[in-house]
Amino acid sequence: MKSIKFITVNNPEKGSEELFNIVEKALDNKELHSIGLATGGTMIPVYKKWVESDLDFSNVTTFNLDEYVGIGVDNPNGYGYFMYEHLFNEKKFKKINLLDGLAEDSEKECDRFEKELLENPLDIQILGVGENGHIAFNEPGTPFDSVTHVATLTPSTLDVNSRFFQEGEAVPNTALTMGIKSILRAKQIVLLAYGERKRAAIEKLAADKVDPKWPITKLLEHDNVIVITDLEI
Ligand code: F6R
Repeated sequence: MKSIKFITVNNPEKGSEELFNIVEKALDNKELHSIGLATGGTMIPVYKKWVESDLDFSNVTTFNLDEYVGIGVDNPNGYGYFMYEHLFNEKKFKKINLLDGLAEDSEKECDRFEKELLENPLDIQILGVGENGHIAFNEPGTPFDSVTHVATLTPSTLDVNSRFFQEGEAVPNTALTMGIKSILRAKQIVLLAYGERKRAAIEKLAADKVDPKWPITKLLEHDNVIVITDLEI
């Protein structure tokens, strides 16, 4: 097993600076053509920093990890909407690839997306992690060889994610998501995790044992993973 590089920071802003430096260097070296992006609270300071910078992404293609089934890019609860609000409205990219939550045939949409991914291998994949160790919407027990697929969300993820929805609005319980295998194909993976709620997942990773109950632990088999965290493990 290859060791993971941990970068410990004092707060999410410092973590965003670390990630910024990695992305800036890859752009300067012309090594960033395709990037995998995540949504969620962890990513807000990351994209804020990019938007405020003069980073030039006009030669970079993006792929987002996931989207709820039944939610389109105009829906403020969706991940596509999040991306436009926090990044894409401000920064120009070569091509933006989102999973379409409104696709008539979700399975077909997953196949289409996976094919695009194979044609544009990811140079960097940015990840957050769920409290239960999920990466993208790959919940505990998801096969490690999964590619982009329709996932059923666990009650714990539904509960955590309900904070982004208006009162009375139900969180969809299925989502389109890149699979664990799709994520692991990226040349480099940078995972960000802040706060005590993420401690169990980061401790599992630090324990250096791959465990299907903790999807994050599959990253141990990748040879280029950086974890940026404010947790002392
Ligand atoms: C989002 C995603 C999720 C989040 C994770 C952490 O695109 O794939 O796996 O990264 O749920 O979310 P936050 O950052 O809100 O704690």
